[in-house]
Formats: sequence, structure tokens, C-alpha cells
Amino acid sequence: MCGIVGYVGSAEPSDRAQGVIMGGLARLEYRGYDSAGIALVGSGGDRVAVAKKAGKLERLAKAIAEQPLPAATAAIGHTRWATHGAPTDVNAHPHLAAGGRLAIIHNGIIENHGALRDELAATGIDFLSDTDTEVAGHLLASFVMGGMGLADAMRAVAGRLEGAFTLLAVDALDPRTVVGARRNSPLVVGLGDGENFLGSDVVAFIEHTRSALELGQDEVVEITPDSVIVTDAKGAVVEREPYAIDWDAAAAEKGGFASFMDKEIHDQPAAVADTLRGRLDAQGRLKLDEGVVDEYVLKSIDKIIVIACGTASYAGLAARYAIEHWTRIPVEVELAHEFRYRDPIVSVKTLVVAISQSGETMDTIMAVRHAQQQGATVIGIVNAQGSTIAREADAVLYTRAGPEIAVASTKAFVSQITAGFLLGIYLAELRGNKFPDEIDALLSELDAIPAKIQRVLDTAAPIREVAASMANERTVLFLGRHVGFPIALEGALKLKELAYIHAEGFAAGELKHGPIALVEQDQPVFVIVPSPRGRESLHSKVLSNVQEVRARGARTLVIAEEGDTVAAQHADEIFYVPAAPVLMTPLLCVVPLQIFALELAAAKGYDVDQPRNLAKSVTVE
Ligand code: F6R
Repeated sequence: MCGIVGYVGSAEPSDRAQGVIMGGLARLEYRGYDSAGIALVGSGGDRVAVAKKAGKLERLAKAIAEQPLPAATAAIGHTRWATHGAPTDVNAHPHLAAGGRLAIIHNGIIENHGALRDELAATGIDFLSDTDTEVAGHLLASFVMGGMGLADAMRAVAGRLEGAFTLLAVDALDPRTVVGARRNSPLVVGLGDGENFLGSDVVAFIEHTRSALELGQDEVVEITPDSVIVTDAKGAVVEREPYAIDWDAAAAEKGGFASFMDKEIHDQPAAVADTLRGRLDAQGRLKLDEGVVDEYVLKSIDKIIVIACGTASYAGLAARYAIEHWTRIPVEVELAHEFRYRDPIVSVKTLVVAISQSGETMDTIMAVRHAQQQGATVIGIVNAQGSTIAREADAVLYTRAGPEIAVASTKAFVSQITAGFLLGIYLAELRGNKFPDEIDALLSELDAIPAKIQRVLDTAAPIREVAASMANERTVLFLGRHVGFPIALEGALKLKELAYIHAEGFAAGELKHGPIALVEQDQPVFVIVPSPRGRESLHSKVLSNVQEVRARGARTLVIAEEGDTVAAQHADEIFYVPAAPVLMTPLLCVVPLQIFALELAAAKGYDVDQPRNLAKSVTVE
């Protein structure tokens, strides 16, 4: 939520600072797109140059084109997802303080802003905006005007704030410096040659450098063109090892697709293959990417709790069937924001698996901390390298899906399920796998999944056509049983968030316990029909559910295994996916539903990459 970029570099004022910030904001816009702004220093004078606009970044770019900004040596930029104050020009960041000498931007929520606002107002300060951020700006000004350097002043500000924040600031009188601070909100440093960068995540500067530093909790950073100084809350210098960014810069481009989401749907074969790649050590055992978990502890766990939000939680639900089946350890899947408030039963024998694309979802971070406080071991399944959950978990399994820019999660989802499978296989092996042959078979079945997803993509024309013809639907239902149930939930979520259509996912068996009352003439109902092979009873049970809704007038849109002619008899429309082991079918069945939501939203003329009211990385509770 809210994208933040900082840059300091060019020895002489130039357009590079503005270019880097605007480019970074374009890459970070998925974090929030209610308004955007930029502040530049270095052109002389004692005031920061600022431009800011409500609405998407293109409105800011247009305003700058009409009224160009001066050349600069350093700059900060912000793209906002509004929390305090409506998305207006005035509430857009940066906010100015000290008579325009200082500019500040912020991501997060300052919980004690009311008390601080009263305190500052009593000293005669007039507030221009409704934001909590402006409070931090005026506090910063009070410390700078009192004689502190910018980094010390920022530390003093952080010491007064409660809540979550990343703050960046520039001073017109110190145009070779940008300072930042963070608590419970992300900030990374990009290390350049004669220039340095700050960003909410590495995507902000991925085209300029492949070397980055993470900032820890309550740390302050001061960047100049040739130095990066990180200090802790007391001002002591902290040494940090840089890491290499392994994401490909091109992966953050649309690559010829109409939207990032369409591209990311097509990235899914590669995302799953990358999640699987090189995971086994010389003994054939799974390797975790970072951190260490005592194998003795893993052997003794008696429960797994998966914590996650939204799509990531559905990935957990989809992986649960496999993990329980392979390990015989009970798995609970819980929404992170519910988990920590219900006094969960967690002990040293609990393994908590935190699933998060961004690694910055505040609800999930808080749940991780709660679990750790109760003595649980936490393994993160995370996409963003160096993110908070990746750092705070005891160990990490990176999903390696590459940057996911579209707000609606697609490739991260399939890679999260895949990583969940790997974890299940690892635990099964570690705890004395009873069926060693099956593990080899499982791994080769998993290796075959990327090509099968590709086949679903190559044969997606029918679902695209059907979706394009359904732009006027008001409600769509999704049914699934067993591993099809989480996919029904995910299909409904995708449609809600992209096409703003009411959609509900149900366990197919639950239908007759209430939801069937919703079905009326021509009601579209997606049904994920399991393979007729293997668990024959489930195939026929779900087909009974299809007949139940059809008998009441529903239009059935069925997803079934290639060659399932029986399912075709009960379908108004049928979309086939290749055969795969039942537990792995979520990786295939979700793809037509992603494409359906994308096409239907596009048919309605909506921005599929940036749906209304949403932001990619939910860094507030
Ligand atoms: C939906 C979607 C969200 C995220 C959720 C968790 O398409 O993307 O539901 O899955 O906000 O985000 P992460 O995985 O970053 O923790």
C-alpha cells in the first residue's frame, strides 16, 4: 500500500532524478493509485519543488508536462492508497513543512496522529491536509529547525510515532541527501554507482541496479550519491550485507500483453517451473532458501497452521489436501487477521506456514509474530525477496514467481500452491516417508504441470469468448468439492475484484444446505468437476450437484478433465484441462477462471491491473 521511491545521484542538477522517480512510481503504481506526487531538490533556492495530483500517475505526468519541474540532484516520489483523508490534490504526498524547505512522504498509518496534531496545532502550526502524514512533516521540521541534521531529525520523528510507517524526506538546503525510516512497513535501499535509491520494494529501482540492502525495524537510512548509512533507533551504525536481486527487470514489463494480469497469467508455466527448480539437495531432500529450522523440531510437530489472506489463503487451502495426505499431520488454514485475535492454540510443536506474495501484508506479519511469541516455528512461503515475512520467519521457501504487478494475484497463487506441495513432500520425507516411490512419482508429476498449464493457456479461446459475452451478468456462482472448493473461492474472488460482479464460491456439497435458493433461471454457475478416474464417487457427486442447479434453470459452465464426456452432457459450456493427479488439479483448474475474470472485466471496460479500491500490498491492518 502506497509506493515510495527515493533517489540521489547526479552531481549536477539534471532530469535523471525526475526520470528515476517517475519510472519507479510507474512500477510501484500497483501499490496504490489514488494520487501521486514528486518532490525535487538541488536546483538552488530554499524550497523544494513539488508536483502532486489526485488520480492515477498519468494525471501527474500530464501536469508535469504542462508545467515542467526543475532539474534536480535528489528526489522522492509517492503513489497513494488513501487511508487518512480523501484522495485529493491536497492530501496527495509529498507534504511540505518548514515553509516549503522540507518535503515528506509516507506509507502506513500513524496511530497517534490525533494527539500529535493537537500538540503541533497548539504551537501555531496550520495543517493543510487531512492526512496523518502531515503531522510527521511538521514534527520533522521542528527538529530540523531546532538544529538537528536530517537523519537525526528523522530518528527523533520515528521515536514520537506509533503505528506503521515508511517515511522519506528531502531538505532543499541539503540536496545531496535523502533520508528514510521504517517501522512495520517496507523500505529497501538500491545501491548504484555514484547514485543510490530507496523503494517500497526492489521493483522501484530494478532497472537501475541489481544490488539491494534491507532495512530492519526502526532503522533510519541516509543516502547520498556515494554513501548509504543505516542507523538503529539509538543512532548506532548498523552494518548490512547487500544482496543480489534475482528478479529479471523484463519481468516487470508487460512484454506485449494488453495488461500485466494477462502477462502474469501467461507467466504461470514458468512460475511453477521456477518454484520447482533446483529444490532438492544431493540426498534428494528439499532445501529451504534461507534460515534454518531444526529438523528435530520439524519431526516432532503435531500440527500445521497456514496463515495468509485473500488469494494466498486459498493457496493454503488448496495445498492443505496434499500436505495432510502426504504427511498425515493435521493442517489448519486460517485468515491471518482472524488467527491472532482468537487466542489460537499454538505451541513449540506447531509449524506455522505464512503464505504471502508481498511478504509485507500487515495482517500476516502480525500473525507470524504472534505465532513466534507462542513458541511456534514459522516457515514463510514468500515471493518478494528480503521482505518482512521472509526476514522474520525462521526459514523461507521463495516462490520465485518474479514480480507480480497486477493487483489481482495469479502467478503467485499457483507458485504458492506448488511451494506448499514441496513443503508437504519435504515433511513427508523428513518424518520417514512410508511410500518412497510415490515421492519420486509426485515430483515427476509436478514437473509435468508447467506444460499442462501451457496447454490450458493455448486452448483458452472458448473461455475468453464466453466471458466477453457475459459483461451484463449481475452474479456468478462457483462450486467445487475437495480441491475444487478453494478454486471455486478463488474464481469468485477474482471476478469480484476485477469485474465488480457479485460472485460466491461454495463447497458443492453445501449447496442444498442453503445457497441453492440463489439459483434462478439463467443464473451462471461454474462447477469444477473432478476427474472421473480415481475417486469415482466425487465425480458423480459433483455431477449430481450440476444437475441440481441445472434443474432449477442455472446455466452451467463446467471445468472438467479432457475426455470427460459425461460431464459434457450436463454442461451448457465446457472447458477442459489436462489430466493430472487429483491433488495437483488446482494448478490447472484455476487458469480458466483467471482468464474468465480478466476477459469479463476487460469487456466491461475496466482496468484489470488496477481494480478500484484495491492495492497490491496491504501494509495496514
Ligand atoms: C487477490 C489478492 C489478495 C492477496 C492478499 C494477500 O487477487 O491478490 O487477496 O492475495 O492481499 O497478499 P500477500 O500474498 O501479498 O500477502
